[in-house]
Amino acid sequence: MRLGATVPDFTAQTTHGPIRFYNWLGNSWCILFSHPADFTPVCTTELARMAERAFEFTKRGVRMIGHSCDSVAKHLVWLQDIRSFARNLPAEFPYPIIADETRELAVALDMLDESERTAEGDPVSVRAVLIIAPDRRLRLSMYYPNTTGRNVDEILRVIDSLMLTERLRVVTPVDWTMGDDLMVDTTSGPSQCGTVPRAAVPENRVETVQMPSGLAYVRKTKFYYDSSPSTCEFWDS
Ligand code: BEZ
Repeated sequence: MRLGATVPDFTAQTTHGPIRFYNWLGNSWCILFSHPADFTPVCTTELARMAERAFEFTKRGVRMIGHSCDSVAKHLVWLQDIRSFARNLPAEFPYPIIADETRELAVALDMLDESERTAEGDPVSVRAVLIIAPDRRLRLSMYYPNTTGRNVDEILRVIDSLMLTERLRVVTPVDWTMGDDLMVDTTSGPSQCGTVPRAAVPENRVETVQMPSGLAYVRKTKFYYDSSPSTCEFWDS
């Protein structure tokens, strides 16, 4: 699936009961993170860490949903193992996990490896991270092979960038984290998929960096971060 594509609606069985994706999503941002199968070691650590840090997604207004190519019954047994890897979890596991025994959803969302095959000869379903905006469009995807676990700090970092750049005509440079300087978006295109126009940075808040080329395309602005990307003030007064 390409960035900006509409993520299709689907129905699924999950560890929190059946869902219709669009109804479940409502008007929220969402992170969908997929797993090839239950009882796999790296996935166990990832699901545990995502659960431990669920409050950081909730704080940002992001709904979380896991996915694995096994049944709800298997997921529920696996959850006991996952819990044993996590600390201080509430009685109800903080997010549902989709059961995709037939791999139908993995195929529909294109979460597949081009070369690795299962014993049955089907493409292996991979560890995907899909970040979906309230308008149901795919805003960011990351694909990891089975060998390599994901990084929750990086996922939160890109969510902060996506949410901020949705509201303000800025872009975030390499290794940016919340609170660092921003760069003014000098492209003339519309925001990627937001319906609300992005606010322009006032010129008196912009510092143009002198470049050897003489071109004025690196324009920085300082950023004041209050509590969360959805409530923050943009500049210190
Ligand atoms: C894992 O999560 O550890 C894993 C998943 C699929 C294949 C190999 C390992």
